[in-house]
Amino acid sequence: MQFTITRATLSDAEALADLGATTFRDTFSGTCTDEDMQQFLDENFNLQQVTNELANEQDFYYLAIMDGKPIGYLRLMEDYSNFPLMTQWKALELKRLYVDKAFHGMGIAQDLMKFAEQLAQQNQFEVIWLGVWEHNLRAKKFYENSGFTDSGHTHDFPIGSTPQTDNWLWKFLEK
Ligand SMILES: CC(C)(COP(=O)(O)OP(=O)(O)OC[C@H]1O[C@@H](n2cnc3c(N)ncnc32)[C@H](O)[C@@H]1OP(=O)(O)O)[C@@H](O)C(=O)NCCC(=O)NCCS
Repeated sequence: MQFTITRATLSDAEALADLGATTFRDTFSGTCTDEDMQQFLDENFNLQQVTNELANEQDFYYLAIMDGKPIGYLRLMEDYSNFPLMTQWKALELKRLYVDKAFHGMGIAQDLMKFAEQLAQQNQFEVIWLGVWEHNLRAKKFYENSGFTDSGHTHDFPIGSTPQTDNWLWKFLEK
């Protein structure tokens, strides 16, 4: 499977907004009302929002590109706001990891994860952490296979008026 991983730039905003909305809808449709889903997509994947995030040097988006098209993406940031416990370490949040469903099970997510870990290690991070919906069994298995464990902490992640709970997972990195 031939693809490259590159940091997204402002010129990727439209493609990233499309991929972000499509993959989020594919993942969470049926877990909330249609209205909640549409509102979440409108708020989080509109072109202005994605452009603002891409313009932030501290907000790291990486795209997996195949044949000139993005088929998956990673979002990484050193951001302790949702999980202050992490401030005792130099900690990198894996905010998003989404692969187009046509490419699940093909090693693309694994390569994106390896890329994230290398980047974390090169930048002296001690730990990577992430939130995963408690019922997202495929993602949970993938993270377990990637060496993440449950921190025992949870976080509310409502989609509109639909309450959902995320588990915080973490992986401590070898020096
Ligand atoms: C999560 C994601 C990045 C993983 O990538 P992937 O290519 O699907 O991952 P893999 O196929 O390598 O691993 C998935 C594992 O889950 C297992 N699995 C699949 N469906 C499952 C289910 N319903 N219950 C439990 N395990 C399941 C697979 O068998 C595989 O495990 P194995 O390799 O030990 O057999 C990808 O599925 C994705 O983009 N999903 C939608 C977005 C998402 O959920 N992102 C995470 C948000 S926190």
